[in-house]
Amino acid sequence: MIPKPVVRYPLPNDLQPDRLPQHVAVIMDGNGRWAKGRGLPRIMGHRRGVDTLKTLLRCCRDWGIGALTAYAFSTENWGRPVEEVDFLMTLFERVLRQELIEMMAENVRIRFVGDLSALPLSLQQEMQSAVTKTQHHQGINFTVATNYGGREDIVQACRALASQVQAGNLAPEEITEALFSHHLYTANLPDPDLLIRTSGEMRISNFLLWQLAYAEIYVTDTLWPDFDISEFHRALAAYQQRDRRFGKVKA
Ligand code: IPE
Ligand code: IPE
Ligand code: MG
Repeated sequence: MIPKPVVRYPLPNDLQPDRLPQHVAVIMDGNGRWAKGRGLPRIMGHRRGVDTLKTLLRCCRDWGIGALTAYAFSTENWGRPVEEVDFLMTLFERVLRQELIEMMAENVRIRFVGDLSALPLSLQQEMQSAVTKTQHHQGINFTVATNYGGREDIVQACRALASQVQAGNLAPEEITEALFSHHLYTANLPDPDLLIRTSGEMRISNFLLWQLAYAEIYVTDTLWPDFDISEFHRALAAYQQRDRRFGKVKA
């Protein structure tokens, strides 16, 4: 079999390599509108959205961005028509199975955040297998938020800490921001530096509520299936113009 040529994306000249975000989070929105605009069923937008994510992941890796977290399914998305939910679950499973070989070859470490226990069993198994097989990879940290809600994340962390207090293993005074962060689904990741939301909506939609405390937010009207490398380049260029003060005054 002839191996597929590996596409590499060179870092554009105008981006400063030492000022890139270390962790990019994306709210992949607008798949339905993309499909509707073409007279297609919504699910076609989700299908195309997978290609956008694959390209973005490779681009992040090639440009030296250490972590990418993508919002694939929110705790609120269960409220969509059952056919759409079913389609998405099947799509996640299929894509995961298809992409695993490539993620192995490209040194991607994949993880999932969210309450995975509510997902179809076969999807949970596929996820677990991908996590285990890529756990020692040193390349980009790729995290997919599936049945994720920022509030649920905070509540499950509270529950874990409360159990430790109840068991007498933790004093309430010992609960610090660092300890709390450590009990969130994202425990081993730095907070995102940049949040990108496609399709123009100016909201967080219950994404990483705690973790986005100081993220720079970039919203584009471009719909997710149309979000390409040049759009990502624009987002990073905008990010590099930002003055991140973290509550302090400008140096
Ligand atoms: C985002 O696209 C994908 C998921 C939420 C799974 P949408 O499906 O929300 O697309 P719009 O916002 O309806 O256009
Ligand atoms: C956010 O998009 C969730 C995901 C991208 C997975 P939604 O389309 O669900 O958000 P709202 O409903 O516009 O806030
Ligand atoms: Mg949407």
